[in-house]
Amino acid sequence: MAGRLAGKTALISGGATGAGGAASKLFAAEGARVAVVDINVAAGEAVVAEIIAAGGDAAFFAADVSLRDQVDSAVAAASARFGTISVLFNHAGTITVKPFLDTTDEDYDRLMDINVKSMFMVTRAVLPQMLAAGKGSIVCTASISSVAATPLEVLYCMTKGACAMLARAVAVEYRDRGIRCNAVCPGFIDTPHGQREIKALAEHGFDATVEALSVQQGRLCQPEEVAKAALFLASDDASFVNGAHLFVDNCFTAA
Ligand SMILES: NC(=O)c1ccc[n+]([C@@H]2O[C@H](COP(=O)([O-])OP(=O)(O)OC[C@H]3O[C@@H](n4cnc5c(N)ncnc54)[C@H](O)[C@@H]3O)[C@@H](O)[C@H]2O)c1
Repeated sequence: MAGRLAGKTALISGGATGAGGAASKLFAAEGARVAVVDINVAAGEAVVAEIIAAGGDAAFFAADVSLRDQVDSAVAAASARFGTISVLFNHAGTITVKPFLDTTDEDYDRLMDINVKSMFMVTRAVLPQMLAAGKGSIVCTASISSVAATPLEVLYCMTKGACAMLARAVAVEYRDRGIRCNAVCPGFIDTPHGQREIKALAEHGFDATVEALSVQQGRLCQPEEVAKAALFLASDDASFVNGAHLFVDNCFTAA
């Protein structure tokens, strides 16, 4: 299939729903063979079926990306199926919304594992193939929360700051070996994650209704708008964009 990712194999963690699901479909429509890696088996299989029905090429690999053995198996199976992975979209992640003093060590470990350690492990599993090929593009989903805090989200903000820095640091270390690594930093997106977050904030008395959010970012971001930004970073169109943080937030962090 022709397109901006023609001939490439892309692995997308968290590629079953939300902005990750939108990216799975968009990357496939742009010619990539897409390995969807996700813990949500039903949604992962559904997005792959949709891609194949549209004439694309994709396969689903079930994994909890916070667990090393599952990460290594999924990456090995994806490469065995599709060959060298040249695009990695590290998107899987989740959120905890509660007052900082109520957060526990278990909350900390869980969120760090799902949001940060997963990205570390998936990137470490995929990068050797990219280095062997002399070329690769990695996109990490950070957030406005990398630089702008929301009350009740201390742990989440910490994890997203780490994701943004992982992207920058990998870029700096591997630039001269053909690797680009960038972060996409969305505002509030209309996805299961975004809706869960808005509901949880409201339950704690923080106004994150669409009306309140419209002051900061005009409206809710659509998942496809994040997917398009990730596509740009993943593709050769961004050949001189490396170590960057691309905010997809309609001025949330600019104002
Ligand atoms: N929705 C927002 O408002 C918003 C804003 C900024 C950043 N983000 C980031 O986007 C990502 C969330 O994605 P989304 O908003 O597209 O919503 P989403 O909840 O639809 O997508 C998250 C995907 O990650 C998968 N996932 C979660 N934990 C996993 C695990 N342990 N192993 C494998 N897969 C797992 C889920 O099954 C789901 O398919 C996170 O990285 C989050 O930090 C979201």
